[in-house]
Amino acid sequence: METISVRKLTKRYGKLLAVDGISLDIRKGEIFGLLGPNGAGKSTTLLMLSTLLAPTSGSATVNGHDIRTEPAAVRDSIGMVFQDPSSDELLTAYENLKLHALMYDVPLREIDRRIDDALGLVDLRGRKNDQVKKYSGGMRRRMEIARGLLHEPAVLFLDEPTIGLDPQTRKHIWEYIRGLASRREMTIILTTHYMEEADQLCDRVAIIDGGRIVALGAPAELKAGIKGDLVTLTGKALKLSGVQKLPFVQAVERNGGKACIHVTDAAKNLPRLLRVAGAVDSVEVHSPDFDDVFLRYTGKAIRDGDADATEYMRTMARAKK
Ligand SMILES: Nc1ncnc2c1ncn2[C@@H]1O[C@H](COP(=O)(O)OP(=O)(O)OP(=O)(O)O)[C@@H](O)[C@H]1O
Ligand SMILES: [Mg+2]
Repeated sequence: METISVRKLTKRYGKLLAVDGISLDIRKGEIFGLLGPNGAGKSTTLLMLSTLLAPTSGSATVNGHDIRTEPAAVRDSIGMVFQDPSSDELLTAYENLKLHALMYDVPLREIDRRIDDALGLVDLRGRKNDQVKKYSGGMRRRMEIARGLLHEPAVLFLDEPTIGLDPQTRKHIWEYIRGLASRREMTIILTTHYMEEADQLCDRVAIIDGGRIVALGAPAELKAGIKGDLVTLTGKALKLSGVQKLPFVQAVERNGGKACIHVTDAAKNLPRLLRVAGAVDSVEVHSPDFDDVFLRYTGKAIRDGDADATEYMRTMARAKK
């Protein structure tokens, strides 16, 4: 049986369809990624699956429990790590975790062992008595992941687990996540802006845009779905209508002053392409990577810098409160 099963899940805010009829199935032990730009509906989807937000319509089961009719059973079987930091900075890691264990009714005599286990998993045992405000961003994220694990959930929801973290810390967190999925057979559903994270960490990825799933599959399958080579041209006056008519051109995507052109056999056909493309400032040829998959399905590019800028703006907004 599928661990998570979602059917036509929808959330409407007034006129806005934040999540627009999503359906998917996630297997036990799978690391499943929801990849999408800002406002795509990723957090809203996780909030509904974790029963913190009521869907407008549609249904879902998590660990065999219906999110609408059995929310308490769903909550008992899941862990949730929110997009925004939600730990108490003035408490130590140990105190934060203990508070959480008490709220989740972890048996009293088990609490210390579980805290020790969870902190061990994210390499924070040595810092458990430090106040969280003295942690780095990566340590705080790891502490919040440990907190999500305390009641030994079968399913863990991670909303942007590595946003704003440096590449090295991000890779560390990937290792913890992989370990949870493989050693503990935990099912993990995470959201991300990062192409690399979707590509390298996730077993399967749903690309979500405007509340809808626009592509779903293993990263390798999604990349293989883009055939041929990609030629990226920049130039202020590219003649793309001529390019589109060439027999070896499969698709043309324009992104500002850039055009991404899918061609068969770029090595052979590039000179002919350049003859009709007008004034070209630069040319790049490469095999499809995950950025191309994303661009193909959403018509937008997300650069890592954009995700960090979003996080920066959020941090500033919180600081002003
Ligand atoms: N409480 C709310 N009231 C009204 N609109 C909302 C509310 N929460 C989210 N939305 C809207 O729903 C849409 C989806 O938001 P959501 O937070 O799910 O996006 P996201 O994919 O998680 O984006 P991000 O990458 O920025 O975290 C957005 O247009 C957002 O403005
Ligand atoms: Mg979000």
